[in-house]
This record gives sequence, structure tokens and C-alpha cells, in this order.
Amino acid sequence: MKRLEIACLILILILVSFRYTEKLWKTPSDWPEPYYNFKKNPLDSATIQLGRVLFYDPVLSSDSSISCASCHSPYNAFTHVDHALSHGIKDRIGTRNSPVLVNLAWGKSFMWDGAVNHLDMQALAPLENQLEMDETLAHVLQKIGKQEKYKRLFKTAFHSETMTGERFLKAISQFMLTLVSSNSKYDQVIRGEKGIQFTEQENKGYVLFRENCASCHTEPLFTNQSFENNGLAVDSILQDIGRMRITQKSSDSLKFKVPTLRNIERSAPYMHDGRYRSLQMVLFHYSSDIHSSETLAPQLRNGIQLTEDDKRCLIAFLKTLTDYTFLSNKQFQYPRTP
Ligand code: HEC
Ligand code: HEC
Repeated sequence: MKRLEIACLILILILVSFRYTEKLWKTPSDWPEPYYNFKKNPLDSATIQLGRVLFYDPVLSSDSSISCASCHSPYNAFTHVDHALSHGIKDRIGTRNSPVLVNLAWGKSFMWDGAVNHLDMQALAPLENQLEMDETLAHVLQKIGKQEKYKRLFKTAFHSETMTGERFLKAISQFMLTLVSSNSKYDQVIRGEKGIQFTEQENKGYVLFRENCASCHTEPLFTNQSFENNGLAVDSILQDIGRMRITQKSSDSLKFKVPTLRNIERSAPYMHDGRYRSLQMVLFHYSSDIHSSETLAPQLRNGIQLTEDDKRCLIAFLKTLTDYTFLSNKQFQYPRTP
């Protein structure tokens, strides 16, 4: 009898926790399963909230002037738009453009060169980068350890006020994992939602996109997560060799992670160094300004032939990737009552 009771209790607990995680995480229909291992960091609303408060808190930088959101603004799909290279504390200029933060649960590696291979480690990079936040994790923990607000938030999330680096990093990951963008017009058309259709122009753009771009910017994430050289001229000052910086292999020279194109309309400037201000400039690059080198992707060797009308259609299609539900989601914005 007793055994049966215990078995029932366990079953109920499993069902309850299953329902709970299901509510906080839903893989969009027809998408691959996420790559992030949620079993090691199960989503929990109190932990997400802690991560969100940390994400918006400039206390994470050495002079308390810069938060993650300073470079990753929710209104621009979590990137910055006002300059090409990101600006850190005391106006120190970084070496790269900040990428959008969307659908990170599917990410296999992070940064333009894949320098970080686990989302839970990602926050350490800007935190300790001299040009960005120029802090140390130990010191941040010491600073927030004194604040009643964080004592409360850690207690609710972890049932203990102890602020460890692991808890800190896992909480920030949890917030970032919730940043799922899957409700653009494109998604609604693909799901066959009633009354939603591509215009003729968008449709032509979609066909062109599948022919010319989707080998790298693969649906539904709009990235195949590989590293490619898309023929950008090397910047003479930055001299960024991309993936080769990590692997030291010359075959990886000038290769960068294929970025997602979701919300691309909102995330200018473009490319790892923010060299292009508009989608028109990006398409000029692909059609007329491909720079040849040993590692150039074979499908771009002759550039992509596009007429002016093709370009207009492609841009119309790219704009269907703007996800207004995502961009205006209050759950992602600065927490008013932390
Ligand atoms: C000073 C601007 C700046 C700040 C502050 C900043 N970031 Fe970033 N972030 C960047 C840049 C630039 C990159 C790309 C760096 C690279 O590729 O070398 C990046 C990359 C990332 C990525 C990788 C995304 C991908 O798809 O590869 C994540 C995730 C991220 N940042 C999260 C954070 C978090 C969390 C914080 C706060 C702890 C933070 N960032 C603070 C500028 C910043
Ligand atoms: C061979 C793979 C490949 C193909 C094909 C390709 N791209 Fe890209 N794309 C990349 C890579 C890699 C980057 C990042 C390059 C960098 O910043 O150094 C990129 C960057 C971009 C960006 C900037 C994204 C951002 O967030 O900064 C846009 C927009 C873009 N591509 C659109 C297109 C379009 C439209 C096509 C088809 C006409 C296309 N791409 C074809 C690999 C490719």
C-alpha cells in the first residue's frame, strides 16, 4: 500500500513538473528541438525574472554604466543600431557589431567566430572584456550580494540567498532562452494562418531567397549555424580573421558564423563589423561586390545575379521576418517592478 502511495505521489510530481515546464517552453510547431539542454537548467519563472533583472542592470559593469541591454536593446531584437561597433564603458569602442539575441536555445556556438560554445558561459565574455564591461564575476557577486533586491530574487529563484557564479550565469541564460521569435508574417504564412498571405512581391522574394540564400540562411532559424566566408573585403584596420582566431586553421580564415535573418529589418547595421547600414547595401554586396579569396563560399564565387526588381522583392521578403509580437513583448523589456 505504502509503495503504491509513493508511486502515485511521484507520478503526480512528474506530471505537475511536466506541465510547468511545458508552459514556460514550447518548441514552435515544425521546428527542430532546441540544442540547449534544459534538463541541466530547467526553466522556472522566478529564475527567468532574476535573469531579466540582471540583464538590465548596469551593476554588471565596473563603473555601473553599462548593462547587457545597453548593447542588446529589446526594441531592436536585442542588438544596437546606433553604431557599427559596440560601445562599452567609458565609450571604449569594441571590435565587433553586436548580434541579435533570438532563438539562442537552438544555438550551437556563440559570437561571430564561435568563441563561446555554451550559452551558460556567454555572459562571462562581455563581463570581463576590457572594452565592454571590464568587470569580474567575483566582484559583481560581491556588489549584488549587498542588495536586498537580489537577496530576495535569489531566494525566490533558488530557495537560498547564496549567490554563486553558476546560479548567476544560469539565470541570465534562462532569460535569454525565452527570447524566441517565431511569429513573424513569414511564420504565419508557413503555418497557413487564415487570411495571411505573401504579396506577389514577397512571394517572388521568397523564391529568390530559397534559390540564392537558404543554403546558409536556412529555414526556420535562417541560419545553418556554420561558419562561412561570404566575400566581404577585409577591413584594413580591424583585420578580423574570424573563425581562424579560434581554430588557428587557415581553412577557417575570414569565416564568420552565419547570422539568423529574423528581425533583420530592425537590426541594422549589418555584418560582424556593422559595415552596411541598409539591406540595399547588403544586396549590392552579394550581387556586385564579392571579394575573392581561398576560403570564399563556392556558391558566391560569381556573385549572385540580381536585377533591381529582384532586390526589391528580396527585401520585401526579408521584411516578412519582422516579428512584432517578439519586438513588443513586455516580458522581455526592462522589468518595472523587479
Ligand atoms: C559593449 C557592448 C556589449 C555588452 C555590454 C554586452 N554585449 Fe553581448 N555581444 C556584443 C558583441 C559585440 C557581440 C559579438 C562579439 C563577437 O562576436 O566577438 C555580443 C555577443 C553576444 C551573444 C552571442 C550571440 C550569438 O548569436 O552569437 C550573446 C548571447 C550575448 N552577447 C549576450 C550578452 C549578455 C548576457 C550580456 C551581459 C552580461 C552582454 N551580451 C553584454 C556586445 C555586447
Ligand atoms: C555562403 C553562405 C551565405 C549565403 C549563400 C548568403 N549568406 Fe548572408 N551571410 C553569410 C555570413 C557568413 C554572414 C555574416 C558575415 C560577416 O559578418 O562577416 C552573412 C550576413 C548576412 C546579412 C547580415 C546579417 C546581420 O545580422 O548582420 C544579411 C542581411 C544577409 N547575409 C543576407 C543574405 C541574403 C539576402 C542572401 C542571398 C541573396 C545571403 N545572405 C546569402 C552567409 C551567407
